[in-house]
Amino acid sequence: MNSDKTPTTFDSHRFCLAPMMDWSDKHCRYFWRQLTKKSRLYTEMVVTGAIIHGDRERFLQFNNAEHPIALQVGGSDPAALAQCARIAQDWGYDEINLNCGCPSDRVQNGMIGAILMSKPELVAECIDAMQKACDIPVTVKHRIGIDDMEDYEALSNFVTTVAQTGCNTFIVHARKAWLKGLSPKENREIPPLRYDLVVQLKKAFPHLNIVINGGINCLEQAKTLLNDLDGVMIGREAYHNPFFLADVDQKLFGTPNPSANRHEVLDKFIHYAEQQNAAGTRLHHMSRHILGLYLGQKGARAFRRHITIHAANREASAVVLREAKQLVDIG
Ligand SMILES: Cc1cc2nc3c(=O)[nH]c(=O)nc-3n(C[C@H](O)[C@H](O)[C@H](O)COP(=O)(O)O)c2cc1C
Repeated sequence: MNSDKTPTTFDSHRFCLAPMMDWSDKHCRYFWRQLTKKSRLYTEMVVTGAIIHGDRERFLQFNNAEHPIALQVGGSDPAALAQCARIAQDWGYDEINLNCGCPSDRVQNGMIGAILMSKPELVAECIDAMQKACDIPVTVKHRIGIDDMEDYEALSNFVTTVAQTGCNTFIVHARKAWLKGLSPKENREIPPLRYDLVVQLKKAFPHLNIVINGGINCLEQAKTLLNDLDGVMIGREAYHNPFFLADVDQKLFGTPNPSANRHEVLDKFIHYAEQQNAAGTRLHHMSRHILGLYLGQKGARAFRRHITIHAANREASAVVLREAKQLVDIG
C-alpha cells in the first residue's frame, strides 16, 4: 500500500458493471461484453456455502470472453471466505469482491451484506484472510452507511479499518441502507444519493481506488464523476437500456467500440445463443437479458413482445431472436 497518501489514479475499475442477483448472470455478462470490451464485470453475489458445498459449475462458470471478471461473494466467516478466494483464483477470476452492501433480511441473519458495515474489524479480518489465500485483488462493495450511522465519520472509520489490511479498492454505493423497514428495492431508491460523501472519501484517501455507484445513467455523468473518482459502476441502467454501453470503450478508454450498432450486437448474441441452446440452455434464460437492446427504437415494443412470448416455450431456439430482429427498424 502507498502509505504516504500520495494521490494515485487507478485505471482498473474505471468502468464497472454491477453485481445484480438474478440479472448479471453469465449470459447477461456475455451480452454486455459484446457492447464493451474494457468494462469490468461482476457476478451476482454467491454466498460462501454455495461455493464451498454447492454446484460450482452452476455458480462459478463463466465464458472466457468475460474477462476482466470479478466474483462477488457474500459471507463473514474468514476461513470460509479464504477458501472461496482460493477457489475464485483457481477458476480464473480476476478479482474477488466482498458484499457489504446488500440490505436484505435474509442475508442480515447470516451476517452477510450491509450489516457488515457495523463490524469493520470483522470485515478487515475477512479481507485479510482472503488476501492471504490468493493473489488476485480482494475488493469491497459497500454503502455510505447503515441505519443511523453518522454521515461521514463511520464511513471513514470503516474504510480506514479495512484499508489497514492492504485492501485498496472500495466500491461505494452512494446511499445508506436502512436495515429495518425498507425492502431491498426501496433501499436502492429511497435513501438519498450522496455523491459528495464518496468524493470526500477519495479526498481523504487519495491513495485508494474509490469507485462510485448508484443512480448513474449515462456516460456524460460517468465522465464527470471520473474527474474526482477512480471509477464508476452502473447497474440498472445497463440492464434496462444496455445500448449506451456501446460507446464506453471509445468515450471512457479511447479504444474502438466493439460493435457499431444494435443489430451487430444482436447478431453476436444470436451466435452465442445458438451454441448455448445446442448445449442445452433454454433460450429464455439468455434472451430475458436483451429485451432492452432496442429501447427507444421503432419496433422496440414488438421486439420485446415477440421474445417474451416465444422464448417462453421450452423448445424455443435462437430463431426467435432472428424473427424479433425483423420487427425493428434502426434506420
Ligand atoms: C436486481 C438487483 C440485484 C442486485 N443484486 C446485488 C448483488 O448481488 N450484490 C450487490 O452488491 N449489489 C446488488 N445490487 C445492487 C447493485 O449492484 C447496485 O449497487 C445498485 O443497483 C445501485 O446501482 P444502480 O443505480 O446503477 O443500479 C442489485 C441491484 C438490483 C437492481
